[in-house]
Amino acid sequence: MSNASFIVVANRLPVDSVVDDEGNRTWRRSPGGLVTALEPVLQANSGTWIGWAGTAGEAPDAFESDGVTLMPVPLSEQEVLRYYEGFSNASLWPLYHDAVEPRVFRRSWWKSYYEVNERFADICAREAAPGAVVWVQDYQLQLVPGMLRERRPDLRIGFFLHIPFPPVELFMQLPHRMEILKGLLVGFQRPLAAQNFLALTRHLLGYRPRGHYVNVDDRLVRADAFPISIDTAHNEEVAGTERVRQRAKEIRAELGEPETIILGVDRLDYTKGIEQRLKAFRELLEDGRLQVPNAVMVQVATPSRERVDQYMKLRERVERQVGRINGEYGQVGLPAVHYLHQSFDRYELAALYQAADVMAVTPLRDGMNLVAKEYVASRVDNRGALVLSEFAGAAGDLRQAFLVNPHDLTDLKDGFVTAANAPLDDKMKRMRAMRRYLRKHDVSRWARSFLTALGVPERSAAYNPGSPPAEV
Ligand code: ADP
Ligand code: F6P
Repeated sequence: MSNASFIVVANRLPVDSVVDDEGNRTWRRSPGGLVTALEPVLQANSGTWIGWAGTAGEAPDAFESDGVTLMPVPLSEQEVLRYYEGFSNASLWPLYHDAVEPRVFRRSWWKSYYEVNERFADICAREAAPGAVVWVQDYQLQLVPGMLRERRPDLRIGFFLHIPFPPVELFMQLPHRMEILKGLLVGFQRPLAAQNFLALTRHLLGYRPRGHYVNVDDRLVRADAFPISIDTAHNEEVAGTERVRQRAKEIRAELGEPETIILGVDRLDYTKGIEQRLKAFRELLEDGRLQVPNAVMVQVATPSRERVDQYMKLRERVERQVGRINGEYGQVGLPAVHYLHQSFDRYELAALYQAADVMAVTPLRDGMNLVAKEYVASRVDNRGALVLSEFAGAAGDLRQAFLVNPHDLTDLKDGFVTAANAPLDDKMKRMRAMRRYLRKHDVSRWARSFLTALGVPERSAAYNPGSPPAEV
């Protein structure tokens, strides 16, 4: 047994290992909102992060990074295929996102999911100090809380689901649904997800939930909503630098000084509604309600899950659509859509946010969506307009956004035009209100409220992200 007193267990480490042809290893930031949110929490706590290093094969040794101990978990090539790309991202991911794409089930994937969850639980059980706080993250590791409790009943174990939790009818489709449900003690992004979970414990397990609590084998389990957030102060700080301000101006100039820049920043994922967004933009050009070069769209689509069939097909469709729009509405040297299938550093992203007149965050379904929050925090000038899907968890927090239903193309188009044409004082009023909200509801508040609900004592090192670890 080791002496880690605050442990986060997540599918991925905050950095991915990249090995070149000569066998040299470098590290690159991992994609996704989970890393964005948890990195500052762990750094403030000198915690331990157990996760996969992003490539198949032997795991590198544990190492320290920014005061956090990173402990890589090995996954074989077959496990990447079955546990990660298969059960996690072709079965659970679509099912939990309202089945906006068909889910696929294979029995061999479940076996691998089970075995990999056991490996994470074993490593954590070995590393955790007596009575340690262990915080398990997301849908890839839903069996870990239960497995860990069997191995180490002394631990205080919390689980947070970063994505939506489906309604009973959808969850019931899942093979091994009982095992998954029994393993969970849960925090969710939105109240509806917690309600779905509690309804399922009644329906499938015959429990009798009361309010947010359910009694399980003499333990009181709480299932509640804890909307995740960003490190608002850090985002504001980056956005306030001269470097970002200058770069934002440059971007506008490089795009030909259009009146309206519509920006999308998403992992290239079918839940993000990129196709619907492009279709809405194309129709607006067709209708003449927007015109190139006065209006252009920039779509950043971060590479994601590139070997999963549905993601490969999505990429083909999106790239074909971009080509079509540019073919029909672009001009020499002036494309209608600037499509960037790449990752950027925080400064470039902040500059893109600052250059954008309209930020399009229009997922068909999303647990939270931190891009929406980053956009708001980056608008230190209080300008810009956020068009936000009602189906993103963030819509519950950023109420002054221009809310749209991305399943309704007419509504989506109207949302873009309304946001682009809204009077400046209206836009500034909305942005100010949303920035105020995010200053108060930042990621450290999220972590604190979850850990408080978990019963972590106030003086524990894990309790107060954002301040130095308390002495124990
Ligand atoms: P998800 O977790 O589904 O990917 P979120 O919107 O919650 O969605 O989080 C995405 C995170 O990834 C944000 O912190 C965002 O800044 C970051 N990100 C998205 N696209 C890029 C990119 N091209 N380069 C670097 N970071 C990106
Ligand atoms: O919750 C969103 C999430 O699935 C995280 O669990 C994950 O780290 C991120 O998106 C990126 O996905 P992936 O790790 O599959 O690249």
